[in-house]
Amino acid sequence: MIHKHDLLIVGAGLAGLRAGVETSKYHDVAILSKLFPTRSHSGAAQGGIAAALGNEEHDTVEWHIFDSVKGSDYLGDQDAITMMCSEAPDAIYELEHMGVPFSRTKDGKIAQRQFGGHTKEVKDEQGNIKRLPVIRACYAADRTGHVLLHTLYEQCVKNNVRFYSEYFVLSLIIRDGVCRGLTAFNLRDGQIHTFHAKAVMFGTGGYGRAFRVTSNAYANSGDGVAIAFRAGIPLEDMEFVQFHPTGLYPLGILVTEGARGEGGYLKNRNGDRFMKEYAPTVMELAPRDMVTRSIQTEINEGRGIDGKDFVNLDLTHIGAAKLKERLPEITGFAKTYAGIDPVKQPIPILPTAHYSMGGIPVTLKGEVLADEKGNTVTGFYAAGECACVSVHGANRLGTNSLLDAVIHGRRTGKTLVEFLRTAELSPMPEDAEDNDKKIFADLYDTKKGENCDKIRVRLKEEMMNKCGVFRNEKDLNSMLDTIHELKSMYKNVAMMDKSKVFNTEMQEIFELRNLLEFSDAIVTGALARQECRGAHWRTDHPTRDDVNWLKHSIAFKTEKGIELKYKPVIITKYQPQERKY
Ligand code: FUM
Repeated sequence: MIHKHDLLIVGAGLAGLRAGVETSKYHDVAILSKLFPTRSHSGAAQGGIAAALGNEEHDTVEWHIFDSVKGSDYLGDQDAITMMCSEAPDAIYELEHMGVPFSRTKDGKIAQRQFGGHTKEVKDEQGNIKRLPVIRACYAADRTGHVLLHTLYEQCVKNNVRFYSEYFVLSLIIRDGVCRGLTAFNLRDGQIHTFHAKAVMFGTGGYGRAFRVTSNAYANSGDGVAIAFRAGIPLEDMEFVQFHPTGLYPLGILVTEGARGEGGYLKNRNGDRFMKEYAPTVMELAPRDMVTRSIQTEINEGRGIDGKDFVNLDLTHIGAAKLKERLPEITGFAKTYAGIDPVKQPIPILPTAHYSMGGIPVTLKGEVLADEKGNTVTGFYAAGECACVSVHGANRLGTNSLLDAVIHGRRTGKTLVEFLRTAELSPMPEDAEDNDKKIFADLYDTKKGENCDKIRVRLKEEMMNKCGVFRNEKDLNSMLDTIHELKSMYKNVAMMDKSKVFNTEMQEIFELRNLLEFSDAIVTGALARQECRGAHWRTDHPTRDDVNWLKHSIAFKTEKGIELKYKPVIITKYQPQERKY
């Protein structure tokens, strides 16, 4: 079956929906999602969206820029960061006017809270400049992503965006450097469908599901990133995977950093607020990579609670009323999933795979880059977590992800509005579905073979242990061997469920293909990068090395395996410095 539209957006999270709002005023737009749109993972974002509004105290865009550059461990491109932070206030007011129900200050302004790594300049008594936490994250209790997602979905519905829900994309069709559309299977009828368009935009989200402990939804299997890679698009900075400090023990469900923003303490088995040893000026509000490593160090050195793999997040001093008003979701999660009442007891937490700084390389306008030299792919765009602009560099600051998705969703949407004014529909190749059809036929024919779950469980377990918060050459080499072994097992994967309608096993088999694809790029990049920078921490190369490694990695899929190239970081104002808090 063939469907035709001007623009196909894949992914109905914040980036995809924001681009949908922008483009659907002028063009015929369809959004495909493997989920119902409002189940997209953006809806799980809790604590806030950053913008220097200064509603609670004095703040400036320049401080936001500096914090994001420093937070990125100087790997973020400063032109992109400057653009994102400068456009943030306007983008927030625009969302407010669309109907986002932000929490309010007493005088009715958008309420804000503190988040890790966001700071203000203050002078101490001797006149020295210090940086202390600033109140910058705009929020709606602890369900900020949820309200943004629902508002943008309503706006898209209002603009007559055509939604294809529960379609799983299989292949991107690029011929002669021009993107012509894609193939997808419809979970409801089990058929392959071809989507023909003048342009395709990916807003397919991140890939935390490659790790055993993760805050990510089941859907976050990095599909867009892997599909692009298979279609010949390179991937940027894949080695940088963020572990959020506070996942609910043992599964890793997100417990928002907003809990520390509201005054929560991290404590080890001795009851010590151990962050004083690691980041004495900002304590629990240090950037994520630092807090995560501090927690993992406490656990590894036996100071986890009862010697186990978790420490405590203590909110008991905050009080029932404030917890109910500001943090109702996580209070509920703690009760449901850990049997803990945060009003009376500390919450057990551990680091959890949370966010992918790397992804599909794009320009500031959302055009996908074909190489490290700056050439672009005609008709292919990306924004949000699946893309790498790069505004997060080696470590993203909390609340900059919703901002990235909204800003780049909007920017990419504006680029697309112009592109579509003159773009023609390029012919769809006749063999567009052939490869997918063959894979389908094989899955239905094969009676015996490898079990999908077994491969996936082993991948996630080993990625957690060998390519997690702390990494070293021996573990990364062993992880690469595992990935190659699992990839060859995958060639014989067997699908037990032969039904056509809602065959979720088939979807899991395709997701596993994607997990294996991009995990290879993560580990290859991590093995090559012999330094510590942001979220990438090599215990065998324990310092940042600006001389050799102040550069973005670009991974290419070749016949012989993954080949790495590099490109320079864009530095405009802030020269790299030692990163202390
Ligand atoms: O902690 C949180 O609420 C997560 C926010 C983020 O990842 O930006």
